[in-house]
Amino acid sequence: MNHSVVTEFVFLGLTNLWEIQLPLFVFSFLFYSASMMGNFIIVFTVTFDDNLHSPMYFLLANLSIIDMVFCSITAPKMICDIFKRHKAISFWGCITQIFFSHAVGGTEMVLLITMAFDRYVAICKPLHYLTIMSPRMCLFFLITSWIIGFIHSAVQLVFVIDLPFCGPNILDSFYCDLPRLLRLACTDTHGLEFMVNINSGLISVGSFVLLVISYIFILFTVWKHSSSGSAKALSTLSAHITVVVLFFGPLMFFYTWPSPTSHLDKYLAIFDAVLTPFLNPVIYTLRNKEMKVSMKRVHSWLANYRKIS
Ligand SMILES: *[C@@H]1O[C@H](CO)[C@@H](O)[C@H](O)[C@H]1NC(C)=O
Repeated sequence: MNHSVVTEFVFLGLTNLWEIQLPLFVFSFLFYSASMMGNFIIVFTVTFDDNLHSPMYFLLANLSIIDMVFCSITAPKMICDIFKRHKAISFWGCITQIFFSHAVGGTEMVLLITMAFDRYVAICKPLHYLTIMSPRMCLFFLITSWIIGFIHSAVQLVFVIDLPFCGPNILDSFYCDLPRLLRLACTDTHGLEFMVNINSGLISVGSFVLLVISYIFILFTVWKHSSSGSAKALSTLSAHITVVVLFFGPLMFFYTWPSPTSHLDKYLAIFDAVLTPFLNPVIYTLRNKEMKVSMKRVHSWLANYRKIS
């Protein structure tokens, strides 16, 4: 039997004040466009420049694809909704948003761990790098991250789609997230909320701890054998660590903060929606000489191609 009478949910959005909506619109629109463009340039450069055909850059290009998908799940709707009075989303639209944000977010976490492992092998076992990170192994890691992400997401949603929703249907947010949605169900969801916090909390805190430990380990190794290559290794590592802290900071706050959602997390969510996907290309390319040189090469190659044709 289907008890549901709620067919759509209504977002309160971030604010009703026109003076804040306008800058918010400009800010989100600019950062969303910049994220899409920056990540696309990385994928394009890595694909077309043979000098960047190494495991690290393949993983980076894959991270860029994930970032483009991730910020397209919530940001476009949020941007279109900013000036609307009635910001609605259908029941299945809401479920879809939750499913993909958890699946793609989970995939990104596992991929970040793979990238840390890649750096560990490159720095601590340089002689075996190409045998350990073989194309086959990279593909295996990649497929594994997608599978883990989708399982993580499906496991929690299986229980949510059967819940009865009989109103109210107001979500104090600009996208669908599980903790808020569960509180709207007209049945006791304490067990389910606990499961979601364990599931999402475990995958985010677990990945974060694993990443921090592996980076400390790598930094320690670099420091012990400090040689000419260590400056370059340090700059790559600090880029990775910055991305990790920015990505996990807000997420861990959502899923492990004990008190029910404050207003702060609504604003923090913008970080993960548009800012982190934008920062990845900035951090990885501005700090990476090889990438910058390669972009120039691809750019001039394109210019020549246009001249010839
Ligand atoms: C993603 O990673 C796989 C495995 O290393 C690689 O074959 C593929 O080319 C990568 N994708 C991009 C866009 O670089």
